[in-house]
Amino acid sequence: MKTKITELFGIEHPIALSGMSWISTPELVAAVANAGGLGILATGTLRPEETREFIKKTRELTDKPFAVNVTLYFPEAEKNAKILIEEKVPIINYSLGKGDKIAKAVHDYGGKVIATVTNAKHALAAQRDGADALIVTGYEAAAHGGEVGSLVLIPTIADLVEIPIIAAGGFADGRGLAAALVLGADGIAMGTRLMNTKESPVHEIQKKVCTEKGAFDSIRTNRIDGLPGRFMISVGSKRIMRKKLNPISALIKSRKIAKMFGYPWLKMAAGILFSGVKKSVQMARMAIGFEAFEKGTLEGDNKKGVIPIGQNAGLIFDTPTVKEIIEKMVSDAETIKES
Ligand SMILES: Cc1cc2nc3c(=O)[nH]c(=O)nc-3n(C[C@H](O)[C@H](O)[C@H](O)COP(=O)(O)O)c2cc1C
Repeated sequence: MKTKITELFGIEHPIALSGMSWISTPELVAAVANAGGLGILATGTLRPEETREFIKKTRELTDKPFAVNVTLYFPEAEKNAKILIEEKVPIINYSLGKGDKIAKAVHDYGGKVIATVTNAKHALAAQRDGADALIVTGYEAAAHGGEVGSLVLIPTIADLVEIPIIAAGGFADGRGLAAALVLGADGIAMGTRLMNTKESPVHEIQKKVCTEKGAFDSIRTNRIDGLPGRFMISVGSKRIMRKKLNPISALIKSRKIAKMFGYPWLKMAAGILFSGVKKSVQMARMAIGFEAFEKGTLEGDNKKGVIPIGQNAGLIFDTPTVKEIIEKMVSDAETIKES
């Protein structure tokens, strides 16, 4: 299936794998790339040396174009971005920050840039900063989607910018792909659907849970990792949402996040102390969230852990291979287009 996105990135189908921490690993990225889609490698929780290793591994598993995500909000993001540029990854996908410097450096070596945005202001800023395409994430999405649903968000942004857009949030089948294209997108990105595949490293318990959960089984809240995001309603997520936090708990919790990223704790603690109460509580939530996501995704623990999950869980009933999903979606969307 050809669109502006397939032309721009040299891929076969306008379907991307979202950059999901712990899940969008070299194996899953390569499975998507080899099936003709665009795999986006997640680096959010990786230390710089691990990022380089993951890029190398992805290159061993596929000779197709792939993208690497850098979440600019995270402590090690700048170092990770530097590595992506040194490695001349074909496509860099940045989110939660300003990407003008990244865009310039990537264009200098002939690469492409995708900015992830959730609203009109950020879409226009990313276009101005040199992004070649946007991932536009709606309210339905797992984790950090926007405040507006994809049905309105896609045409709004499509009318606003000149660069191609990839719609994310709520997509799980050929009907969704066809609808996104009709609404003005040039492709889609999927998290929850591709998390539940044979090749996905998410814990087997979560694959089963994902087939059982419905459209009403997630909640959008800023009380998990400090930013508005969508997570599965579970014993674990309810417990964390109830937690009351203050700057002292932020300092204590920051030890964990510093350890996870190999970041000097004293530097992080000083940053928290000077950032004010609101920001420090947000940092504490981020630390708690990260710990819970690791338990949720890799250990399948829904009592101590938390898993991001989209409203599209209500459209997912099986655990096929990546290739099966992509082929069926494209074929179904083409049938809809012709009818
Ligand atoms: C388990 C899981 C982990 C995720 N981790 C991240 C992350 O680390 N960073 C990020 O920007 N988005 C993350 N996301 C969100 C996806 O990148 C994407 O925006 C979202 O899944 C799209 O919506 P969908 O799930 O409806 O397809 C995650 C999503 C899931 C399901």
